[in-house]
Amino acid sequence: MKIFIIGGGGREHALAWKIANDSTQPEIFCAPGNAGTADVASNIAIGAEDIDGLVAWAVENRPDLTVVGPEAPLCEGITDRLNEAGLRVFGPSRAAAQIEGSKVFANELMQAAGVPTATSESFTDVGEALQYLRTIGAPVVVKADGLAAGKGVFVCDTLEQAESAIEETLVSRGFGDAGSRIVIEEFLRGEEASILALIDGEHIVMLASSQDHKRARDNDEGPNTGGMGAYSPAPVVTDALWPVIREQVFERLLTEFRNQGIVYRGVLYAGIMIEEGQVKVLEYNCRFGDPEAQAIFPRLKGDLLPALNACVDGNLDASLLDWTEDPCVCIVMASGGYPGSYDKGKTIDGLDLANAMQDVIVFHAGTGEEEGRTVTSGGRVLGVSACGPELETALERAYAAVSEIHFDGAQYRNDIAYRAMERMKASV
Ligand code: AMP
Ligand code: GLY
Repeated sequence: MKIFIIGGGGREHALAWKIANDSTQPEIFCAPGNAGTADVASNIAIGAEDIDGLVAWAVENRPDLTVVGPEAPLCEGITDRLNEAGLRVFGPSRAAAQIEGSKVFANELMQAAGVPTATSESFTDVGEALQYLRTIGAPVVVKADGLAAGKGVFVCDTLEQAESAIEETLVSRGFGDAGSRIVIEEFLRGEEASILALIDGEHIVMLASSQDHKRARDNDEGPNTGGMGAYSPAPVVTDALWPVIREQVFERLLTEFRNQGIVYRGVLYAGIMIEEGQVKVLEYNCRFGDPEAQAIFPRLKGDLLPALNACVDGNLDASLLDWTEDPCVCIVMASGGYPGSYDKGKTIDGLDLANAMQDVIVFHAGTGEEEGRTVTSGGRVLGVSACGPELETALERAYAAVSEIHFDGAQYRNDIAYRAMERMKASV
């Protein structure tokens, strides 16, 4: 069996690693991949945003399944293009991917579906946006409508910050067309979690819970990033919350998708805020989380491919996925300067040593090969994952592995999973 994975980050290495361990031993191709995917797949030098190039490769090589990692090609309609060519794809259509591609679309769908979320309004006019801002006051959140690589969300403590966010999006067009419309939304308090579900158009199977760490530095300080680490499960998601999340976050949305004649097939990621047993949706994404995938897949016993195939074929069933109780932690090692500007081409040492440690998997994100050396090539460089019988053991293993890995300017957070650790201490 031939599997084609699109993308080249940590999430795609985690997908390739998991699929490579499938009992059917598939042949894997990854475009563009990274130095880590090269160990388990054949890398194809086509960028994840080169839709024509990817479609041409797939049409020529006829993979049995294409798995799309990032949101950009999904929002551009790569699934529709490949389906038209008679190819099987894991990932939603362009129409369904709007749930991530447009915050305005997502908010309207949530409102129609009755999904609990922040109160919000959308604007294209600066004057109207500023007027609304004054009526609701700070703290407040300003979001660019379109895809902005995780940078289009401004959580503003003051009106001045919100005004400059409106200026940056609507006036100076810092995000191009993605910021020609904005959403101004109520600030939500609570603890965040990521809940992902596989959906085959009809059936919903929720995956293990996880929690990301979006801020660059310890204690949730510094700028927002793509994610500096994750762990699974997230104990903030209590047993009592699961049925609430299923019904309010997934079933309601899927019903409304259906009302609008849109079929959702693939993985749906809900970023949720939990406060006093109430759940509100912060955002939906049309793909696996990064680095959540690097903390979830190591906990999946058995094969992933049957569940991905069942999503495409419409016969998804919860029995296809079986999770170990053991927690998993992923520590992201990033280039110095990330999420701002950073250097590339730094030699990475210690990878083999770290990978050989007990229950450790080093997922590559921004890495490449240069004259036989593994070097940095992106902002988030590695995701060092480790499992253990207890969260504490998983953390010790992950940080022990991190301490073996070296590259100039490496930065990482020292407090991954601190909320879960605090919760555990409080309950003793
Ligand atoms: P998003 O891309 O919409 O998930 O936003 C990125 C991050 O901004 C989220 O993970 C939250 O930490 C924060 N955020 C987004 N919307 C809100 C909100 N309404 N209230 C508080 N924080 C938010
Ligand atoms: N880790 C956040 C995301 O994947 O969107």
